[in-house]
Amino acid sequence: MKYLSILASIALVAALPQHHASGSGNRSYNISVLSPTSDIPGTTPPSTVSPTSTTSATATGSTNSPTPSFTPGVTTVEDLWAQTEIYSPVLVAAKSNLTDSTDFILPPNPPAFLPTYLSENTKHLKFPKGFKYGVASAATQVEGAAKEDGKGPSVWDYGPHVYPQLYTGAPDVTDDFYHRYVNDLARLKAMGVNTFSLSLSWTRIYPLGSGKVNEAGLAFYDKVIDEAIKNNIEPIVTLFHWDTPLALSAEYGSFMSPRLVDDFHAYAETAFRRYGDRVKTWITFNEPRVFCSQTAGNPYNLNYPSGVNATSAPYHCTHNLLVAHGTAVQTYRRLSEEKVIPAGQIALKNDDNNPTPWSDKPEDIEAAKRHADFFIGIFAKPIYIDGDYPTTCKETLGSMLPPLTPEEQKLIKGSADFYAQDLYRINTAKAAPNGIEACVSNITDPNWPACQDNRPEYTSGAPGGWGYGQQADPRSNWLVNSWSAIRDQLKYLTKTYPSKGGLYISEFGWAEAFENQRTEMYQIVSDYGRESYYRDYLNEFLLSIHEDGIDLRGVFAWSLYDNFEWGLGLTQKFGMQYINFTDPALPRSFKRSFFAMRDVMRHHLQPEDFNS
Ligand SMILES: *[C@@H]1O[C@H](CO)[C@@H](O)[C@H](O)[C@H]1NC(C)=O
Ligand SMILES: *[C@@H]1O[C@H](CO)[C@@H](O)[C@H](O)[C@H]1NC(C)=O
Ligand SMILES: *[C@@H]1O[C@H](CO)[C@@H](O)[C@H](O)[C@H]1NC(C)=O
Ligand SMILES: *[C@@H]1O[C@H](CO)[C@@H](O)[C@H](O)[C@H]1NC(C)=O
Ligand SMILES: *[C@@H]1O[C@H](CO)[C@@H](O)[C@H](O)[C@H]1NC(C)=O
Ligand SMILES: *[C@@H]1O[C@H](CO)[C@@H](O)[C@H](O)[C@H]1NC(C)=O
Repeated sequence: MKYLSILASIALVAALPQHHASGSGNRSYNISVLSPTSDIPGTTPPSTVSPTSTTSATATGSTNSPTPSFTPGVTTVEDLWAQTEIYSPVLVAAKSNLTDSTDFILPPNPPAFLPTYLSENTKHLKFPKGFKYGVASAATQVEGAAKEDGKGPSVWDYGPHVYPQLYTGAPDVTDDFYHRYVNDLARLKAMGVNTFSLSLSWTRIYPLGSGKVNEAGLAFYDKVIDEAIKNNIEPIVTLFHWDTPLALSAEYGSFMSPRLVDDFHAYAETAFRRYGDRVKTWITFNEPRVFCSQTAGNPYNLNYPSGVNATSAPYHCTHNLLVAHGTAVQTYRRLSEEKVIPAGQIALKNDDNNPTPWSDKPEDIEAAKRHADFFIGIFAKPIYIDGDYPTTCKETLGSMLPPLTPEEQKLIKGSADFYAQDLYRINTAKAAPNGIEACVSNITDPNWPACQDNRPEYTSGAPGGWGYGQQADPRSNWLVNSWSAIRDQLKYLTKTYPSKGGLYISEFGWAEAFENQRTEMYQIVSDYGRESYYRDYLNEFLLSIHEDGIDLRGVFAWSLYDNFEWGLGLTQKFGMQYINFTDPALPRSFKRSFFAMRDVMRHHLQPEDFNS
């Protein structure tokens, strides 16, 4: 059983590599997907097994545990780091001469992309006034400086050091944004962006997740926010982008426990009070659906409190996260009503999509609807409609989905000022082969609980044996350039989850196929597939606004440069700049897509919205 459990957790982690995992897929692929369906019923939580059988051969005298030992009031940040560094030290970036430098060399424009046919139909169209044009990032993925200035470990610091065989490196250094943000922001300005979506590291601010605040951590984000504003770039701040404080996981199972709500709330309030004068757009949680669906796998499953098992974990997480979101939003609004901070706007970032039904058959249409309910509706319906989960989810999950009490429903309903969707691709959906009804009643069915056919040819393919769009890197087999479905998707989101504050595409982006295998700089920076993706999507966004009347207010590209892509580490490339991670100087190089994005947006933004 031990061996099996470990294998199960390996499968889950191996399947967890992207920053925004997709909804369905073939679990035997490394890059497939963690949905609630990839939960493995019957898995003993790894906290009950010894990890020694999977630790690397170099480990000696192991005393490590999947749950670091933690005693409230006794265990210190240093103790947690010691337990994290049991096999390998946390690395430190080489000193950089870019630390306070705004210098960089912008190369001449790349050769023309393709004939201009793509943009003919939108040439005359503009994005509306005040349109937010930006890039997105996340603390763990770009900052590095994992231990610096009093930061505490998150589960993403712990897992890769304690279970190196389950990861592709640790985020110790990654892009070293921590020391090079001045230069990185100057580069962003050269792209003309008027906004930058970043996340705060909870454990920089509260090293143990709760309790004592770390002034050095707060001061770092003061500097980043001020530098962005100095560059005429509006900072948009996400409070939580998956970096759960290790202490809270060890103490009470973090998101598995209702105790999470108060600790998140305290952290959120500290951030609102500190930065609310300069930050006017806030995101509480990044892609809660992906985050919660991963709670059955390392590194989140450090500790399940009683009553929670691997099958029900994602739904306890869903519940606690929604309540934490509602509580934080209530406080944000109160602080602004009391004039402690100026008025702003707040929401969370959803992910995934409403798939295109495989055929006109009622069961395929139902499969698509079920997918949308499980992947979007489970968070969006309570917030944007009526405070409660979709009926489909409640009926399928039964007691595994803790109900929202009337008070909680009241708190959550209306707890967003705009709608934000990370929209990388649109799926297709076909009913489970044995029929939806049989699947719904069988918790061990591999397609449970959404009960669409999870095989990739039916989620990223199209009838007739075709792909649904250009395929990204094979290690991100969930990602296809599905531009043709964008307009319908935006119509669906606007109609289903209307918001007075409009719609934002809070992330979209591309893993160029085989980019990681290129060695020549001229090939690395020639990311034609990424350029194509951005041009196609931006074109469709313009048509959505002008022909479909969609209230789209901003778009955020993932990402400004290559970064730590979770389980795939530094090897999966999503950047518009290349970083040579084998060179200690971490030099940045602009890719074609950087210029493409800049030029498309310069052409289509209102002139005053382009940051020149
Ligand atoms: C999943 O992918 C593996 C490896 O490519 C393949 O052997 C297997 O047949 C696939 N399974 C399904 C259900 O598509
Ligand atoms: C998954 O990735 C790891 C590390 O890159 C590799 O060793 C392993 O063979 C891969 N597994 C599959 C099923 O492709
Ligand atoms: C997990 O909990 C759910 C809900 O209580 C229960 O139906 C299921 O059988 C449990 N699974 C395991 C493996 O214990
Ligand atoms: C930093 O060092 C590199 C390599 O020595 C050099 O090419 C570059 O000009 C330096 N940049 C600054 C801002 O000093
Ligand atoms: C439930 O699904 C599992 C896995 O596909 C299958 O082996 C089992 O026969 C199914 N049970 C029923 C009652 O259909
Ligand atoms: C990356 O840096 C290494 C080490 O300095 C160097 O050998 C390699 O050529 C560089 N790669 C590129 C594409 O410049």
